[in-house]
Amino acid sequence: KMESTLVLLKPDAVRRKLCGEILSRFERKGFTLTALKLLRLTPAMAASHYQEHSGKPFYPALIDFITASPVVAMVLTGPDAIKLVRAMMGPTNPVAAPPGTIRGDYATVMSENIIHGSDSPASAQREIAIYFSEQELI
Ligand code: CMP
Repeated sequence: KMESTLVLLKPDAVRRKLCGEILSRFERKGFTLTALKLLRLTPAMAASHYQEHSGKPFYPALIDFITASPVVAMVLTGPDAIKLVRAMMGPTNPVAAPPGTIRGDYATVMSENIIHGSDSPASAQREIAIYFSEQELI
């Protein structure tokens, strides 16, 4: 089925100038880019995005990291986009991410794991609304 998913290229990806390479992978795969922007997350946006992790030991460091410098936010649309994007990303922990996945190819540690992708249709809908207005979804 056709799906849309929210992808963030995290501050480490932007700093390391990997955005083009990663976007290229999604384009080659066949996804349609339906929204794209560079922005720095406010603390409120970060808290909304990561609400399910509130209270966890890594939460304060996660909020500091994600708000420290700009991210690239995008919406990718295509058949089974949510599951396919997550497969291309690889597991959260780069140590477990096989070569050929984005985290497997570019990341070494969990706290700087390059990319976020929505994990379900409900998350995708919620997360897209944090970053994009209706008019920004082309
Ligand atoms: P992500 O799954 O995109 O969203 C939550 C993030 O928290 C996760 O990526 C990691 O970057 C980060 N994180 C840091 N430490 C941990 C941990 N111990 N367990 C899970 N996520 C962690």
